Amino acid sequence: MASQEYSFETKLLHNQHKIDPVTGAVSVPIQHASTFHQFDVDSFGKYDYARSLNPTREALEDVIAELEGGVKGFAFASGMAAISTAFLLLSSGDHIVITEDVYGGTFRMVTQVLTRFGIEHTFVDMTDLGQVRQAIQPNTKAFYAETPSNPLLKVTDIRAISQIAKEIGALTFVDNTFLTPELQKPLELGADIVLHSATKFLAGHSDVVAGLAVVKDEELAKRLYFLQISFGAVLGPQDAWLVLRGIKTLHVRLEQSQKSALKIAEFLAEHPLIENVYYPGLTGHPQKELQESQANGAGAVLSFELKDETALREFVSHVELPVFAVSLGAVESILSYPAKMSHAAMPQDEREKRGIKNSLLRLSVGLENPDDIINDFSQSLEKLQHNQFAFHQGE
Ligand SMILES: Cc1ncc(COP(=O)(O)O)c(C=O)c1O
Repeated sequence: MASQEYSFETKLLHNQHKIDPVTGAVSVPIQHASTFHQFDVDSFGKYDYARSLNPTREALEDVIAELEGGVKGFAFASGMAAISTAFLLLSSGDHIVITEDVYGGTFRMVTQVLTRFGIEHTFVDMTDLGQVRQAIQPNTKAFYAETPSNPLLKVTDIRAISQIAKEIGALTFVDNTFLTPELQKPLELGADIVLHSATKFLAGHSDVVAGLAVVKDEELAKRLYFLQISFGAVLGPQDAWLVLRGIKTLHVRLEQSQKSALKIAEFLAEHPLIENVYYPGLTGHPQKELQESQANGAGAVLSFELKDETALREFVSHVELPVFAVSLGAVESILSYPAKMSHAAMPQDEREKRGIKNSLLRLSVGLENPDDIINDFSQSLEKLQHNQFAFHQGE
């Protein structure tokens, strides 16, 4: 049976790097060498210098390329290094159409770095294809989508954006961090480049910072490889190994976390002190059908709003179980405050324009029993309710 015929969860384990051909080891060896002896003056071996290629990083690049269904993968020192390097495919005078509630670091790169090199951008609500078309300029060379988006979980139609991009000869970049190829394969939907913060679900244990890119065609692969070695923000072998190990359990982790996320989202949606819940798996989410048409699930990240910032602060102070931290996609649930964490790089007025309120929290659901999280949130909301009641009584 050829490996292409295996199911996704089997491919996570049984891929071309499952056995080291030299020793039979069932874990990819960590090769620390920065340079490689050459046995011939005129013809060098496959490896010469570790920035260009390192066998451990190469294994990760092969694995992610296969899982995303692309021709070549690239591993970088962080998700931002992957995203920034991919943006270097553009040149001065080019223009990007980009989804508006994008990750704060990507917002900072586009608004404060690329602009200095003459690369322009227009932010749009990518759920509105009319806005996307209207933003096109004669120099538009790329469309950048994050779906579901961070932190409002808006869903972009990858097929439609890729089609619009093709009509004008532009590239489509998709940040697939929230869903991973377990749930969504942007290249199969028409995108040209998939990007990841592998720090998140792919590695999965809050113990490594890493980025990945996968491209659909050989020509793009050559261009991105040239940029990877030129810019040089490559992933180290130890970190590449940690991501490889994390990927082996991706299916079981994400399946469990996703199931729990729906249960927690449903609980929050019913609670009178919660103003809004954003989760594309929830009945009533405006793009639920679109999500189902392009992904195998809604993922394990959701966001929710309390009445105001005061309520949020009090809620957080009573929560005991999730860690209150930057990041997502780990075995432990992570509660984040986008206004001060993932989107702190976005000025307040820009956040407000996008509906990222100071009363918004993001939850990345881990592997705890979801009832424990629900009980924890319940006790915190009860205290909040009690204190609000006491406050009103005292007025
Ligand atoms: C959707 C998304 N893309 C990219 C990044 C950046 O990745 P990294 O922190 O690994 O540089 C993040 C980080 O939070 C993210 O959430």
